[in-house]
Amino acid sequence: MARVFSGIQPSGELHIGNYLGAVKNWVAIQHQMQSVFCIVNLHAITQAYEPAQLRERTQAMALTLIAAGIDPATCILFVQSDVAEHTELQWIFNTVTPLGELERQTQFKEKSSRAGSGEVSIPAGLLNYPVLQAADILLYRADNVPVGEDQVQHLELSRVIARNWNARFKAGYFPEPQALLTPTRRIMGLDGQAKMSKSLGNTVGLLESPDEIWAKLRPAVTDPARVKKTDPGNPEVCNIFSLHRAFSPAETVTHVDAQCRSAGWGCVDCKKVLHGNMVAELVPIQARAAELRAEPKRVAAALAGGAERARELAKVTMREVRDHMGLTA
Ligand code: TRP
Repeated sequence: MARVFSGIQPSGELHIGNYLGAVKNWVAIQHQMQSVFCIVNLHAITQAYEPAQLRERTQAMALTLIAAGIDPATCILFVQSDVAEHTELQWIFNTVTPLGELERQTQFKEKSSRAGSGEVSIPAGLLNYPVLQAADILLYRADNVPVGEDQVQHLELSRVIARNWNARFKAGYFPEPQALLTPTRRIMGLDGQAKMSKSLGNTVGLLESPDEIWAKLRPAVTDPARVKKTDPGNPEVCNIFSLHRAFSPAETVTHVDAQCRSAGWGCVDCKKVLHGNMVAELVPIQARAAELRAEPKRVAAALAGGAERARELAKVTMREVRDHMGLTA
């Protein structure tokens, strides 16, 4: 059976961009393929952070993932640093990774230009970030990696690493993992300027109340052609329409499309309908989150169990890897 691996950074509360771009897809996939999902706290420490906050965010991410439908009894859900084999394999992969490939990664170039502009120097961990990512995936010999567009380059590099290791030590040992691109179109922030992201403050949190969500949706950017209510619009260029596609039933999406093009509805009418459908999807998630918050031991136990199962798989891979590399006594 095909095995799936994916990771998410513990970057505070999940927002609807992460939810639609990754987590909702994971929830469906866990029932179709053997799935390993990881909260990648070792990736998070490549940028400035507070230890207490990281711990809190890791727990919050686990709770939110479970509330969103990731079932720790169906898939393996764990925290990266609980399985030491990730860092061991990362070191090994460093020895078969071309430096030039690391320097060419778009994410490295972006992050290092930001880090390098201050008084802090660029940590080597930022450069080696994709090597750890390859180790995450290949430790479980996963074939499929559900990710967004922005991770395609990292996935290509993980294939190079698998190929190089295989060529040197054992033909065919590691599969070349493929990206399973998320079906949802890219969700922009409510400012319509850039991808939804916590650092830009243009998000809707998965656990925000209906009133908070409305306060953000009401002023959100729509098709700029719709200056007056009587101006017809083009739903294809409207971020609110993308959100309808994600949250509203198909008949509603068709109706919204027609009402926008004919200026039958104003943007506020359109947003009210979206708000109703969004809240309907988020309310059960929020109810589960409240239940889990009342019983924090359940989340801790789920992560402990997940780490245990992940370690079993990881140990087998590492035993074989060490053997093929002459690292055994
Ligand atoms: N780099 C990924 C991101 O920022 C997170 C990640 C780490 C990941 N390890 C992974 C994703 C392994 C997929 C597979 O989104």
